[in-house]
Amino acid sequence: MEALITQIENADSLETLETLRVDILGKKGTLTKEFARLKDIPNEEKKAFAQNLNTQKAAVANAIEVRKVDLEKEALNKQLESEKIDVTRFNNELTCGAVHPTVDTMDRIIQYFQNLNFSVEEGPLVEDDFHNFEALNLPKYHPARDMQDTFYNKDYTLLRTHTSPVQIRTMLSQKPPIRMIAPGTVFRRDFDLTHTPMFHQIEALVVDEADKVSFANLKHVLEEFLHHMFGDVEVRFRPSFFPFTEPSAEVDISCVFCKGDGCRVCSHTGWLEVLGCGVVDENVFKAVGYENYSGYAFGLGIERFAMLIHNIGDLRSLFESDLRLLGQFK
Ligand code: PHE
Repeated sequence: MEALITQIENADSLETLETLRVDILGKKGTLTKEFARLKDIPNEEKKAFAQNLNTQKAAVANAIEVRKVDLEKEALNKQLESEKIDVTRFNNELTCGAVHPTVDTMDRIIQYFQNLNFSVEEGPLVEDDFHNFEALNLPKYHPARDMQDTFYNKDYTLLRTHTSPVQIRTMLSQKPPIRMIAPGTVFRRDFDLTHTPMFHQIEALVVDEADKVSFANLKHVLEEFLHHMFGDVEVRFRPSFFPFTEPSAEVDISCVFCKGDGCRVCSHTGWLEVLGCGVVDENVFKAVGYENYSGYAFGLGIERFAMLIHNIGDLRSLFESDLRLLGQFK
């Protein structure tokens, strides 16, 4: 008995203690087996035998409980020790942040067009109907306004739904030739895997004398630009509609993931739509008082470019501050 108690007192871990408990008190434990012998004991000795066993059982159970409390305390102390933070310690390790993929993509695009002598223009995020719609050949009640789910304010202002109003502002304040880009935040009432209520666009506008700007120029500029951003991809122009350009096109590149074979990202078409463009509509020039000029414009979503460049599956992750994601872009 003494020996058993010493063994329990010396148990060096909760596991060892549990093994001991099972060995002694468990279903097939040594003490439990003793109890089974009770039926073979002569009647007159039974009482004393049982009493003795019960005393032993109580002693063992007690010793186990005492040791268990001690071991648990030890384990807790060990854990507290290992998790201790010295708040006075100077952290010599300099961890460096990374440029956010959206910002990085925006910077790369701005840089590219600045090298081509485009100026960078800005406009307000809270716009009025004239700049966001009317002057862009989107009169009131025009069905194409439905293309852009707008956040309206009570005072008839709105959150700009695209960067195109900067075209209007620039043409109203400058004279051609104009070569500008307008990067910035835009807002639409939309939220799912590929849409967020706030995102970023870059707009471009080139205006010059009528014989100096053509759709062919636009096509060349865009092909060069897309090859710069995505490398060796195929570029395809698809006829489309925007109220402020005529003719208009949407531009696809061959899927950067499957190289055009068809995959989940390109919905098995082999193509990814990356921007909208066209030749500036006459009505837009009328709205800003330009005569005898011609121009082209295009607009693109920066997050979309960032996703394709960095292979990011869910647009929404670009708006969460998850350092595990952002740390990958150092
Ligand atoms: N403003 C359009 C949009 O947000 C994109 C665009 C810009 C299309 C310029 C043509 C010319 O969808």
